[in-house]
Amino acid sequence: MKVNVTNHPLIQHKISIMRNVDTGSKEFRELASEISMLMCYEVTRELPLKEVDIQTPVAMTKGKMLAGKKMAVIPILRAGLGMVDGIVNLIPAIKIGHIGLYRDPETLNPVEYYCKLPSDISERDVLLVDPMLATGGSASAAIQFLKNYGVKNIKSVHLIAAPEGVERLNEDHPDVEVYCAALDEKLNDHGYIVPGLGDAGDRIFGTK
Ligand code: PRP
Ligand code: URA
Repeated sequence: MKVNVTNHPLIQHKISIMRNVDTGSKEFRELASEISMLMCYEVTRELPLKEVDIQTPVAMTKGKMLAGKKMAVIPILRAGLGMVDGIVNLIPAIKIGHIGLYRDPETLNPVEYYCKLPSDISERDVLLVDPMLATGGSASAAIQFLKNYGVKNIKSVHLIAAPEGVERLNEDHPDVEVYCAALDEKLNDHGYIVPGLGDAGDRIFGTK
């Protein structure tokens, strides 16, 4: 399985501000969106292009434009919502689906509570987004869900990943490419990423 750490200096700078316990929800949300947009640049690096004829004010020329690959961004609710805007800003035609999962605080296993996907999801390349890849249970379950709907090409995009989460995806879904802005040290006893940035959902939505 391919793991891409998109650690551009701008991304590292913004991740450091997100990690800071004193960063408030407004700034945290803005940063999640900005980093997602910067990551999207890398995630879409291999999108197919087609050649087009262009009349500039000066001459005819040939140029390249996107070949129109069908894509979908699927946030894992709720923290994944914080990454959608940044991606939609760069790919305005992308369709948006939602998968609702929360992590049972006792077992750390994902529990599904919502799913709404574009009707032609099996024909689309999917960017699955969730800021945190911790045990990997949520992402693995969401990927399996998408595969059951016939999706073939999935990229799993996260702000922070733990080695345990990467290992889990490697075991369960070696065909899926993983992108993260930072690969952290480990999980603690409560399944939180260390050093991480705390509870991404609570920090995005200001619920704690
Ligand atoms: C967080 C996070 C991921 C999950 C990661 O969601 O946004 O979805 O935990 O953990 P895992 O890799 O161990 O599965 P949470 O369950 O806190 O729900 P929320 O987004 O509603 O806050
Ligand atoms: N979910 C979070 O929001 N943060 C973590 O560190 C782990 C799971």
